Amino acid sequence: MNNIRTELKDTILTITVDRPKALNALNRETLEELKRVIEGIDSGVRCVIVTGGGEKAFVAGADIAAMRSMTKAQAKEFSAFGNGVFRALERLPIPVIAAVNGFALGGGCELAIACDFRICSENAVFGQPEVALGITAGFGGTQRLARLIGEGWAKQLLYTAARIKAPQALEIGLVNQVFPAGELMEEARKIATAIANNGPIAVSATKTALTDGLLLDIDEALILEADRFSTCFETEDQREAMSAMLEKRPANPFQGK
Ligand code: COA
Repeated sequence: MNNIRTELKDTILTITVDRPKALNALNRETLEELKRVIEGIDSGVRCVIVTGGGEKAFVAGADIAAMRSMTKAQAKEFSAFGNGVFRALERLPIPVIAAVNGFALGGGCELAIACDFRICSENAVFGQPEVALGITAGFGGTQRLARLIGEGWAKQLLYTAARIKAPQALEIGLVNQVFPAGELMEEARKIATAIANNGPIAVSATKTALTDGLLLDIDEALILEADRFSTCFETEDQREAMSAMLEKRPANPFQGK
């Protein structure tokens, strides 16, 4: 792969978008590589961290040079392809953390909001500058941003093309936590490790209950929760963790069974 690096450490997979000549901008090749990585994630991975290579950018957007001369038909296909990749990331049965280490503009902001949650460095900058380029957001920004931070802020960001810095991103709920740049990845790994140490069947069921449930009405969503809850029972992990608790002994590590 030319533009994506991966590192598997214990059960945590770090995916780094690494295309320094364009501040990690997403061209077709990068999206295809990302798709391949997502499709190749197996059940041994318990948490994913997505970040950007270099110190300046998470992802500076979809590739403007590649988009400049696109036809309407090519643009529709590019948007559909990018949306498919980000949706696949969102639908992974394991948590995905965005560790945003600099510019997260346009497609970069959209990549971050397709992850389960976001932490960022103090120098992070977020924005949806598409309308300043005469286009709309096309990788989920017109849909996910409002679901995440509410209609008002989403509309303000999408209509103004304003760039916001880490403290404001924190204030409006776009990110959960802000860290000094040098500590971001260590903090991301700490959170990922906490996730990876929990019961993988339970974490996965929690993710699908929550993510899919948000798209349902409350009655259907609670039926989904009961279903996801029940999938955790009769598993070795559930029996062992509950027995250890009641027997006042340390539990054996979770097996994912
Ligand atoms: N697509 C393609 N190339 C991009 C890019 C993008 N989204 N963002 C940055 N690059 C390229 C620049 O063209 C430049 O290439 P060059 O060295 O061949 O000239 C290189 O990355 C470095 O960017 P540069 O603009 O010189 O860095 P900077 O520090 O001055 O500015 C940004 C950084 C992020 C503020 C600026 O690059 C920018 O505004 N990028 C576009 C952001 C955007 O609108 N994204 C949404 C796209 S829909």
